[in-house]
Amino acid sequence: MRPTIKAHADFIPNRFREQVALVVGGAQGIGKAIAVRLAREGAQVIIADIDRKMLLKTAQEIRQDKGEVRTIACNVRREPQVKRMVSSVIRRYERIDVLMQIAGVAKPAPFLKTSTEHYDWILDTNVKGSFLVARAVLPHMIKQRRGKMVFMASTNSWDAEAELAPYNISKAGVFLLAKTLAREFGRYGINSNALGPGFIRTRLSGWVLEHPGFAAKYKDLIPLGRIGEPEDVAGPATFLASRDADYVNGVLLFVDGGQLA
Ligand SMILES: NC(=O)c1ccc[n+]([C@@H]2O[C@H](COP(=O)([O-])OP(=O)(O)OC[C@H]3O[C@@H](n4cnc5c(N)ncnc54)[C@H](O)[C@@H]3O)[C@@H](O)[C@H]2O)c1
Repeated sequence: MRPTIKAHADFIPNRFREQVALVVGGAQGIGKAIAVRLAREGAQVIIADIDRKMLLKTAQEIRQDKGEVRTIACNVRREPQVKRMVSSVIRRYERIDVLMQIAGVAKPAPFLKTSTEHYDWILDTNVKGSFLVARAVLPHMIKQRRGKMVFMASTNSWDAEAELAPYNISKAGVFLLAKTLAREFGRYGINSNALGPGFIRTRLSGWVLEHPGFAAKYKDLIPLGRIGEPEDVAGPATFLASRDADYVNGVLLFVDGGQLA
């Protein structure tokens, strides 16, 4: 029985068999949907997250779904914790085939009321976190001479939204990080790409999706006429991590129902 994991598009059995996938920020929302999908497709999944309670809950759901999963508590803003997370994966599995760097935060504020602490929190989590995780994982992928890195950018990497300056800046930074790594590590058989979701129904986007003004206008905003679900992102994410994407490197794949069309 699969009680709490939502049904989604067809999965591809064994696509990630014998592969080790680290999903950072996998305790809930989009990261969870990606972890579930990878586990269903045969990967040994490690979910890392700052939220211990949700980590355990998600791991339990994946196990009930017959997936292989382990958890690691990690705050991506803290370098020693990121190093420990990667060392513990390598100690146990000796490799990392897929990195999903999904952890991120967002909070709106009018620009003139955006405190330095707010700015640092968003940039440290989204950009420095991605930098620290990538820097810790890459030496192992270089040794393996292969690896797939997927970073969580956004439509905001491309189009700015008002009252989200630190978030917009951070997501542009994450996209450029993914592109930089594509250029620098392609020669080792490592692919680095970014995902650009639009409006996806999660805890993070609740404040905007629940706004009455948004409900009135989203059908015009999104050509497909609906808000995305975390499972809508899991397919494109696993595509970028799969052998089908062996020649895809340095792209930002929008998953936005056509919002930026
Ligand atoms: N929901 C959307 O509409 C949307 C759109 C575009 C991009 N994104 C991006 O997708 C990613 C996932 O967001 P979501 O919507 O699923 O939100 P979410 O809040 O449901 O999930 C984010 C996860 O990141 C974890 N996290 C936060 N700070 C962390 C830290 N310091 N260390 C480790 N883990 C941490 C959280 O605990 C949580 O499990 C984010 O990077 C977000 O910016 C979301």
